[in-house]
Amino acid sequence: MRFYYAPMEGITLYPLRNIHRQIMGDGVDKYFTPFLTATNNHHFKNREKKDVLPDKNIAFDDYGNQVVPQLMAGNAADFLWAAGEIKKLGYEEVNLNLGCPAPTVVNRHKGAGLLQDPEYLKQMLDEIFEEAAKDSFPQISLKTRLGFSDDKEADALMNIYAAYPVKELTIHARVREDYYSGSPRYDAYKRAVEVYRKSGGKADICYNGNVDSVKSFEKIKDLPCDSVMIGRGLLTDPALVRCLRGGEALKPKELRDYLGALYEGYAQYIPEDRNVIFKMLEHWAFLHVHFKDCDKYLKAIRKSRSKGEYHAAVNNIFAGCEFIGSAY
Ligand SMILES: Cc1cc2nc3c(=O)[nH]c(=O)nc-3n(C[C@H](O)[C@H](O)[C@H](O)COP(=O)(O)O)c2cc1C
Repeated sequence: MRFYYAPMEGITLYPLRNIHRQIMGDGVDKYFTPFLTATNNHHFKNREKKDVLPDKNIAFDDYGNQVVPQLMAGNAADFLWAAGEIKKLGYEEVNLNLGCPAPTVVNRHKGAGLLQDPEYLKQMLDEIFEEAAKDSFPQISLKTRLGFSDDKEADALMNIYAAYPVKELTIHARVREDYYSGSPRYDAYKRAVEVYRKSGGKADICYNGNVDSVKSFEKIKDLPCDSVMIGRGLLTDPALVRCLRGGEALKPKELRDYLGALYEGYAQYIPEDRNVIFKMLEHWAFLHVHFKDCDKYLKAIRKSRSKGEYHAAVNNIFAGCEFIGSAY
């Protein structure tokens, strides 16, 4: 089984990807970047471009090529331009976002918005894959949901996807209207993969949705998939993939090193203590589960305004709370 780190906007940027790899080892087979917007003026935002520059991604020839840039595009021309730029940087694979549920994205006919209009989606993929058949184009993977408002829509979508030489098809086992909550639709996922195979789809299939512990992994073990993509579970337990591979649970020293390295990584990325702390709080929103009865310590972390205050508050949570390892 292969394991992937899911794309998460504003979070799975190069500081996190590099540091996760350096501290937690090489168990994650691919890291997906948050989406880069393929704009119609054919220009990436500076911060988006920076995130995929080879010199920002450690050991680019080795690990760097396990980074998969994701693109958000509403038409074939914009996607093709952006994928070409990604290829020039040396990447072998790009991923098309067909799942973002945000109203601002959906209303622009992008992300999960494309699932609402299968006819248009098919036309867009026809144009993309016709061009992609030419040499020197990166392989294209797709990340989709089971539908927009009803998982029965998956049949038509899987029929469409099956017609193209997709590198890998990631299916988030929800529809757009579920956003990220509620139980994943395991049965509908299984059925979708069956329909995809019956329609002649050959791509490897990646399962995504709520794998956040060894126990939750058990729930999906019988589902058809070649790989599993994990988002929030890895933010909560950075050692989760190691555990799923039968390795050791997260250790406090390791978490400290990870947090320390992340702080320094963000400090180079956004040079303002307050903003770095703000980024770290996004991680603490997930990581606090490793500390028993930690409310007052967490509050102090949240209230810190300088690097000194922040590190003192972090020292206190490690010293004052019982450490709870991985969520088995
Ligand atoms: C804060 C946040 C940002 C996300 N950003 C992206 C994104 O840029 N591209 C994408 O395809 N999915 C994005 N997702 C969805 C995740 O990749 C993943 O599909 C979702 O979190 C479900 O997986 P999980 O249960 O393992 O977290 C995001 C999810 C969250 C919570």
